[in-house]
Amino acid sequence: MLLMIPGPTEIDERVIRSMARQMIDHRSEDFRELMRSVVGNSKKIFETSSDLFIFTASGTGGVEAAAANLTMPGDKVLIPTAGLFAERMGEAFQAYGAEVIQAKLDNGEGPSPDAVKKLLDQNPGVSIVAFPYNETSTGIISKDVKEIGRICRERGVLLVVDAVTAIGGVRVAADESGIDVCVAGTQKCLAAPPGLALVSVSERAWEKVSKKKVRPPYFDFFKYKHFMERWETPFTPAITLFWALDESLKMILEFGYERWLARHAAGAAALYAGLRHYGLELYAARGYESPIVAAMHIPKGLTDTAIRETMKKRYGVLIAGGLAHYKGKMFRIANIGLIGRDKIIYTVYALGKTLNTLGMEADVETAVEQAEKEFDRNWSG
Ligand SMILES: Cc1ncc(COP(=O)(O)O)c(C=O)c1O
Repeated sequence: MLLMIPGPTEIDERVIRSMARQMIDHRSEDFRELMRSVVGNSKKIFETSSDLFIFTASGTGGVEAAAANLTMPGDKVLIPTAGLFAERMGEAFQAYGAEVIQAKLDNGEGPSPDAVKKLLDQNPGVSIVAFPYNETSTGIISKDVKEIGRICRERGVLLVVDAVTAIGGVRVAADESGIDVCVAGTQKCLAAPPGLALVSVSERAWEKVSKKKVRPPYFDFFKYKHFMERWETPFTPAITLFWALDESLKMILEFGYERWLARHAAGAAALYAGLRHYGLELYAARGYESPIVAAMHIPKGLTDTAIRETMKKRYGVLIAGGLAHYKGKMFRIANIGLIGRDKIIYTVYALGKTLNTLGMEADVETAVEQAEKEFDRNWSG
């Protein structure tokens, strides 16, 4: 089955093999060496020199860790919202006592400098701005996060970014973008198994963290910082997943980080060329199309189940539907991690055939040709 869902994604044989090992002591030099390697290479992908912690938790745990360490009761947290994962960030901050302003963005747009500036003007007293870099639920990506970071710094506001699907797929550059707490997951563009959350914490964020008196017992940044001094974690880590992440990061860096990003960009160009040729309507507005996952409205007369089941049963391609309140209203196709030219092109082909099977008139040949052309135009190998 070809996994074209937005995570978990396919992992390389090398990564699979790295996990088939006997356990080691997590208070040993072997583990410390592993930790040095994973954290060092993760920082290269985050492009950060800040502290970076690895929690045994999925991406949601990383977002909760940010909320738990930063939020003081009554803090105003602004969340420009383009989908479900922004809503979930709101829930996390609210659970730790924040007053959350869940500002819905309209017309398929994601967070942008203009939107953030306007919302900050309308909502005085905000101390944290938080949003997903890439909103996986609607296929909408934010615009110019570096400028958003600058606006936040200028106003003394912290910027928290859920880069769970963005990291490794697009250049996040946490330091240059002024991201104070950046959260990533492993099962997306890092092409590792699910189960670890990576979180970077800037100097500015530490100032706020240090003011918090009641600390979370599991996610306490201070505990992690203390144990990181000897390259350990406070609690038993998922060692197997550390091996896997270590291997996948090495694989990405050997492939070349820039090339890895460029292949995602080429895959996105090819995928969107195919989808546009079929006349499918995207959730994202022009300029906000996520290179990581495309989310489409269901064409009139069809259902999300019919599209997904035909893709799966006839062509062996697994694509995603809508989540929560988007269920039944969309279908989504990912361009993540190891997915390269062949898989994208085959998916464009399989989707066209599926649409035809369901009674539409899709020009499969031209869509495939255009997708191929776009991939090759954007990728030099
Ligand atoms: C943007 C974003 N944030 C958070 C999550 C949640 O991650 P996890 O399922 O690993 O907890 C996801 C999962 O798809 C996501 O895409």
